Amino acid sequence: MQVFHHITSLRESLKQDRLAGKRIGFVPTMGNLHAAHLELVKTAQQTCDIVVCSIFVNGLQFGLNEDWDKYPRTFQVDSQKLRDVGCDYLFHPDDREMYPNGLDTQTRVICPTMTDVLCGASRPGHFEGVTTVVSKLFNIVQPDEAVFGLKDYQQLAVIRRMVEDLCMPVEITAAPIHREDDGLAMSSRNGFITPAERPKVSVLNQCLNWVREQVEAGRVDFDQLQQEACATIEAQGFRIDYFSISDSKTLQPAAVDDMQLTVLGAMFTEGARLIDNLSFERS
Ligand code: PAJ
Repeated sequence: MQVFHHITSLRESLKQDRLAGKRIGFVPTMGNLHAAHLELVKTAQQTCDIVVCSIFVNGLQFGLNEDWDKYPRTFQVDSQKLRDVGCDYLFHPDDREMYPNGLDTQTRVICPTMTDVLCGASRPGHFEGVTTVVSKLFNIVQPDEAVFGLKDYQQLAVIRRMVEDLCMPVEITAAPIHREDDGLAMSSRNGFITPAERPKVSVLNQCLNWVREQVEAGRVDFDQLQQEACATIEAQGFRIDYFSISDSKTLQPAAVDDMQLTVLGAMFTEGARLIDNLSFERS
């Protein structure tokens, strides 16, 4: 695996690959890689000749009171994991390479409305940071295909919309959520869960599944279902950020006649904010 810290050298290699007719796949990450990230690389390898993974903890998508400074940076271990799965290129720029003019005056990419709800409502500016950095990374790598995880459902939806609206020539592939045995979605932030909380955090996933069962059994009292799920999560000692039965495409609260539904939840543990979601079609 070749490691690049600079845009120009990465572009030079990719140019040769493109001239040789190779299909380029791309997996953007913020590092602290776990099995789910590596699955994204494997997904890209199935359809691409060259797979590029990026590791960049993007300050632009973190709020002032968020965990940018304590976000785990584990470059050596990450690069070994990527080598082991046969990733071709690792792009690891520093802040100056990505934002040479600083963050404040950086040109931004904004996807309105869809980012006003859910994670966007509780993390103002977050998705603007994501769409901006992903646009930059797409311009740097110019991939044929980019793979994102369904764990960050809203992020994936926003990126799909950005690609459509801005006519970006990249195919977006969604990879399923990778979970621990008890249902907890894998996340770089799971390391912040305390041992005492750990057996209880799967309540979030259990509530998503419970809501799905209830809806499939015919319940359409979505507000009541959301309240019951929130009460179950709170009874385990966690604070709710949001819990919503939403339309899968628009991410707005679901109407009783919406058929494609996604249940999305976010809750706070002592040291982490955990998110999860579940999509299904009503019959
Ligand atoms: P990060 O949180 O590192 O996630 C990188 C990719 O891994 C995302 O597409 C995310 O959805 C996926 N992922 C993480 N945990 C997953 C799981 N348990 N199952 C499936 N996929 C999972 O998301 C970001 O970084 C950043 O916002 C980024 C897109 C890199 C822009 O900075």
